[in-house]
Amino acid sequence: MDKKDRIEKLFFLKEIGVNILSSEEVKKMRKALLIKPPTEKGLKKEEKIEKSNFSLGFSLKKKFLSEIEKEIAECKKCPLFNTRKNYVFGEGSIDADIMFVGEAPGEEEDKQGRPFVGKAGKKLTEMIKAMGFEREDVFIANIVKCRPPGNATPTPQIRRTCFPYLQKQIAIIKPKVLIALGNVAAQTLLDTKETITKRRGKFGKYQGIPVMPTYHPSYVIRNYTVAVRKAVWEDLKKVLALLDENS
Ligand code: SF4
Ligand code: URA
Repeated sequence: MDKKDRIEKLFFLKEIGVNILSSEEVKKMRKALLIKPPTEKGLKKEEKIEKSNFSLGFSLKKKFLSEIEKEIAECKKCPLFNTRKNYVFGEGSIDADIMFVGEAPGEEEDKQGRPFVGKAGKKLTEMIKAMGFEREDVFIANIVKCRPPGNATPTPQIRRTCFPYLQKQIAIIKPKVLIALGNVAAQTLLDTKETITKRRGKFGKYQGIPVMPTYHPSYVIRNYTVAVRKAVWEDLKKVLALLDENS
C-alpha cells in the first residue's frame, strides 16, 4: 500500500467507526501516517469536509473487500466454522445502489460458496428482475457467513459475532439502500426485536442508510398467497421510488 492508499484507508476506517476498528489498529495507522488524533474539540474543519465527501474508489473497494474475505475464510470465531463446507461472502456489484441482506447460507449456498443459489435464491432473483435489475447489478449478502447445520435460525450470539463482517462490507460498498430479507436481517440491521410482519414496509436506518425490511423469499415460497406477494412488491416499489427520488 502506498502512502495515498494508506491515507484513504485511514479516512475510510475513521468513517466506519470504533465498533469495527480496534484501538490498536487506529494507533498503528496514525503512527504510520504521523497523524495526530483529533483534539478534544473534535475533528478540524477540513477533516470534517474530507469525511463527509469521502467515498472509496473501485480498486480500493476491491482491495478492502478481499481483505475481509480473507478474514472470513480463516474465521473460527463461532462454532459454524466446524461444520461449514464453504463460507459465503456475498456477490454482485461492489458499486451497487441496492444491497440485499439475508440470514445465513442454506445447503446449496454452503455447497457452492455463493449466496441465494437454492430455491430461495430463485425467488430472490425473480424479485430482483421484477425491479428491473439483474443479480449482477445489486449486491447480495447475509448476516451470517457460514451455514448453521440443519438450516437452524442462527442464535443471537452467532449473529453478533458474524455481523461485523457485513458491517464492513456495507461500509465499503456504501449502497444507497439496504433490503433486509426476513426477521434475522431486519432485527440485526435495525437493532430491534419487532417481527418482520410488523416491521415490513417501513423504512428504517442503519448507519444513515435507509433499510427496507421485507419478507424473506423462503417465507414467500412457504406462504405463496396474493397478500404476501403483494406486500413484498409494495416494499420493493418503495425502494425503487426512493432511488428515483435520489437520482
Ligand atoms: Fe466466523 Fe461468521 Fe463463519 Fe462464525 S459464521 S465462523 S463468525 S464467518
Ligand atoms: N437464505 C438466506 O437467508 N441466505 C442465503 O444465502 C440463502 C438462503
